[in-house]
Amino acid sequence: MNTFLNEKSNGKKMVDKVFKAAVAANIAKEKFGDEVVNATLGTLFDEDGKFVALNSVWGPYETIDKLQKAKYASSIQGNPGFRDAVYNWLFGNLEEKIECEIIATPGGAGAISSTLKNILSPGETVIKPSQGWGPYKTMAHENDLTLTDYNMFKHGEFDLADFEKTLNEVMDSQGKVLVIINDPCHNPTGYSLRPDEWDDIIDIVNELSKKGPVIILNDIAYVDYNSNGDEWKIHFAKYNTLEKNVMVVIAFSCSKTLTAYGARVGAQIVITKDKKQLESFKDAAIYSARSIWSTVNNSAMKLFSLIAHDNYLLSKYKKEKQKYITLLEERAHIMTSEAKKVKLELYPFTEGFFVTIKIPDDKEKTALNMKLQKNNIFTVEVDGGLRIAICSVPKRQLKGLSKRIKDLM
Ligand SMILES: Cc1ncc(COP(=O)(O)O)c(C=O)c1O
Repeated sequence: MNTFLNEKSNGKKMVDKVFKAAVAANIAKEKFGDEVVNATLGTLFDEDGKFVALNSVWGPYETIDKLQKAKYASSIQGNPGFRDAVYNWLFGNLEEKIECEIIATPGGAGAISSTLKNILSPGETVIKPSQGWGPYKTMAHENDLTLTDYNMFKHGEFDLADFEKTLNEVMDSQGKVLVIINDPCHNPTGYSLRPDEWDDIIDIVNELSKKGPVIILNDIAYVDYNSNGDEWKIHFAKYNTLEKNVMVVIAFSCSKTLTAYGARVGAQIVITKDKKQLESFKDAAIYSARSIWSTVNNSAMKLFSLIAHDNYLLSKYKKEKQKYITLLEERAHIMTSEAKKVKLELYPFTEGFFVTIKIPDDKEKTALNMKLQKNNIFTVEVDGGLRIAICSVPKRQLKGLSKRIKDLM
């Protein structure tokens, strides 16, 4: 071996479809201006095409002392005030207590990759949704894991039968299951599981846990943009009904929640009745943190705690964020109602940042994407379709978009 890189890393190359499509859209924008529909970006933009950085978040940031901005975090696990704030943010409205450990991570990405690393051994299989966030694959490969999918939808709702079948197959072959569930506001379809679908999932994993350990990785990156607001978080009480051989790792992210994508703050919230294993998970996660990113951004943790612990700041934040949830709902309504009218098939959509056009055939999908690009419509190719980021496209550009796409099919 005469390469500088080791055998595994030599040849590793990140091809990020979102960034690639965004670059193409920007080049077109320079030439064609407002004619270009850039539906590639998974960050919030307002109706004037301006990037949204919430005033109720970035105003208070200015009040944070420069020493706090300069300092290391007070603990590798994350500042205690931040961990308290995360607990209250997610579980504050529950009547019952949730026994958990919270570990700060650099964004949801840090929470997910660290979980993959510490739950499975190289060569084992992680289960992900058939439509899903691209980096799940990158993270699995980075940790020498293989992937298998559960099918997301059947007859317009969650395909529970395939979920159960896939989990059982993996359990039978490796004696343990790690499954990613990105809910609510699934990326890329915008689907949110109904409460009864979640009840069925809980029943399935409880039953499955008789055969071996089951770990649900609940990626909640978009939780604060669901249409039911904090009410949705009542869902978390269901995790208290899990058997001892089930663990949940919630991957929380401040990226969308605070419009603080670049601040790189999130958390793993680990729940299981098995106290010994809860402690072991926490220890392993802290060890991994120290060995990879060390500590998380101190001032961003302070910022989150500041807003979460101050009723005045919190209510200002909720009010401002609600404006954008309403805007997302309006954009979604334009997209879904017009798609229905022109018979453009979308995956089942509930809420959130994205809708996805259903195109199961890869060749057809790429061909359509090329055609759309030639017509100044930029989307992102995802498994089984083309994703339209309604979070970043103004209403005036969404109007008529379904018909334009359908006409090019
Ligand atoms: C589904 C999903 N999960 C997790 C993340 C993690 O984001 P971050 O690492 O910025 O918190 C994202 C970001 O786009 C996402 O779309």
